[in-house]
Parts: sequence; structure tokens; C-alpha cells
Amino acid sequence: MRIFIVLCILPLLGYCTLPDIGASGYDCGANLMKKSKKVPTNVNSVRPADIKVVMALGDSLTAANGAGAEDPLAVVLQYRGLAFQAGGDKSLEEHVTIPNILKKYNSDLFGYSTGIGSPNVWEIAKLNVAMPGAHADDMPGQARQLVSLLHQHNTVVDMNNDWKLLNIFIGGNDLCRYCSRPDYSPQKCGEHIGEAIQIIYDNVPRVIVSLTGMLHLEMLRRSDTGHFFCTSLHTKECTCESNKNYTNAEIAQAALDYNKYEMDLQTSGRFEKDDFTLVVQPFFSQTTVPPMKDGKPDQTFFAPDCFHFSQYGHAMVSTHLWNNILEPVGMKTKNVNISAPAIPLTCPDATCPFIRTTKNSEDCSKYITAVSDV
Ligand SMILES: *[C@@H]1O[C@H](CO)[C@@H](O)[C@H](O)[C@H]1NC(C)=O
Ligand SMILES: *[C@@H]1O[C@H](CO)[C@@H](O)[C@H](O)[C@H]1NC(C)=O
Repeated sequence: MRIFIVLCILPLLGYCTLPDIGASGYDCGANLMKKSKKVPTNVNSVRPADIKVVMALGDSLTAANGAGAEDPLAVVLQYRGLAFQAGGDKSLEEHVTIPNILKKYNSDLFGYSTGIGSPNVWEIAKLNVAMPGAHADDMPGQARQLVSLLHQHNTVVDMNNDWKLLNIFIGGNDLCRYCSRPDYSPQKCGEHIGEAIQIIYDNVPRVIVSLTGMLHLEMLRRSDTGHFFCTSLHTKECTCESNKNYTNAEIAQAALDYNKYEMDLQTSGRFEKDDFTLVVQPFFSQTTVPPMKDGKPDQTFFAPDCFHFSQYGHAMVSTHLWNNILEPVGMKTKNVNISAPAIPLTCPDATCPFIRTTKNSEDCSKYITAVSDV
């Protein structure tokens, strides 16, 4: 509580004045969000409250550059605590993130980031090793860094027994350069993500990898039409986005290709074992309409550089990601209205109250376990 008040009086941090999305009154009834009676041994029987550790790999969208920024200069700051897949600042009632949802049901949750800082500042970043500017070929290095952090902090993380959720979102920087650099192709991107997951698979037990599928860059191209300031920034930050030779249709196809190679990693079964799985969350894959308000692109969604997500954007994305996490594989929403949050937040399916995996989506009855009494 005291920390929150301190943050609110610092004018540099837009935490309290910038728009945000919270989910007050999230309630799934008496049992649906409880822990399992016994710590599950099978990856297909993991309830949201069984997750003890959250970890993340990615780029500036996972480091949350600019998420709390009120001016373009502050976009260099990594507002990790607000990141949609890794941040734990504020409460669920004030700001939706995946960790904020999970920690409401497990106050011992560990690994999420708080505050502002780089991945090498342990107190801030914890197990979110995302690095601004990262490409898919940086993912294996981040995965190794994560393994080493888990070993260094083995007094707080019980490597063998704790269930860990690893959130990955990568590819924006690859797609931004792909039009001139074929080595950033969707296929190569998929291979690098596969290498990274392999490192985790070989070294870390009890992990659910949740891979957020690539987003459509042309959504961004459409959202900045007419904003001179944004267009000029993107020319530097994202060369393909501003390259007129590269049509919206081509950019769209590249994003679909990224999603295909990401999905192939899941369907190959390469990362399936009793205590490990990979699930792709595809809500961005067919979402091409930018966030809109009153018939115009909604700049509230973006940081002041019109490129990264604002805290409002992070919270918006979190609501749709959570929905995907609880939807069965094969039936996950692929086209969301990114102008509106998925609020009230989704509750687990009473007939399969687990984080959905390929196997529990095929036949959940094999994986039903008892829920905790308390
Ligand atoms: C666009 O294509 C033209 C003709 O092939 C080429 O001269 C120009 O350099 C290209 N522009 C960019 C930004 O790649
Ligand atoms: C998306 O959400 C916005 C904001 O609530 C709403 O105005 C718009 O009609 C929705 N679009 C679609 C296609 O449902």
C-alpha cells in the first residue's frame, strides 16, 4: 500500500493519471479458481491457482517500454511492472495483467516484475528477462538466462515442484526488418522460438509455455495514418511498416506466416511430456482492425511513441490473452475486438477448470482431479 502511494506522487510516472483498465469484482464462484487439493503431477491438470512462478521472454512489448510514459522521452523506460504478460504492479482491480489475475488466487505467486528497470535488475525484473529491441534469434539466449536465474534463486523457486507459466511474445522487431532482411523470415523466427523452448524443456521441469502469437503490423500502419509525428517515428523504428513498396497485404501475410510457424511448434508435439507443454494463444492472429474510438484509431492504447502499448493497451491485451488461456485448444478466439476489453474476465470451464492444453482440450475427463477444500 505504501509503495503504491509513493508511486502516485511521482509525476514522472503516469501510473495514476493515465487511463487504465482494471477488473473489479472478478469472481468465478466458490470453487473454480481454487488450487488443486494436491500439487498436480500432470501438466494437463494445472489450475490457474496452482501456478507458483511466472516467467517471460520477449522484446520491448514484454519489457513494457513506455507503458507508464506521459511523453515520448519516457518511452526508453521499461515499465516492467505494467507488462501484460509479466507485470505485477497495482492490483487486478486497477490494472489487468496475467500475474495480477493469478496472484489474486495465489498470494505466493513469484517471478513477476514490479516497477521500472532493465532485465539485469533482479528486484525489478525478477523472471521477466525480455529485452527491448530483441529479435527471435535472441530467445535462446534469454532462455539460458532464465535457466541460470532459476538456479541462482533456488531458495525461492522450487525447481522440481513448482508449476511455472512461461509467457513468450516475440517477432515485432523481426517483422519490422523482414522486408529488407530475409534472415528475419517467419520460418527462421519460428525456428529460434523452438530453440528457446527446447532449452527450457531440457532444463526446467513443470512448465506450461504460453506463446502469444504474432500481431498484425498493418494494424499499426493503419492506426498512425495522418499522425505525422507517429509516421516519422515508425520510419526509424520499423522500416517495413513505412516502406511503401511493402503492401498491407504482404505485411498481413507475413504476420499469418509467423503465426503458422508458431502453431507448428505446438502441433508437432515436440514439447509435450507429462510435466511440460506448449500452447499458442492466437488472439492477435486474425485481429487486423486497430483499437478505435469514435471512428478514429484510439491513441489511448499506445504509448506516446504511437508504437508501444500504454498501460491501458497492456491491460486491454491481458484481458484477451486470459480469455485465450482458458479457451480449449482448437477453439481459441483468433479475432478480437481490441477496442474493448474482455471484461468481465473469463472464468475456467466448470467441466475442465485447468489451463487449457492440447490434451485436456481433446479429453479432459482423464485429467480431472480434486479441488482444495480451502
Ligand atoms: C522501392 O522499390 C524501388 C524499385 O524497386 C526501389 O528503387 C526503392 O529503393 C524501394 N524502396 C524501399 C524503401 O525499399
Ligand atoms: C468494438 O468495441 C467498441 C468499443 O466498445 C465498439 O464501439 C465496436 O462497435 C466494437 N466493434 C465490433 C466489430 O464489435
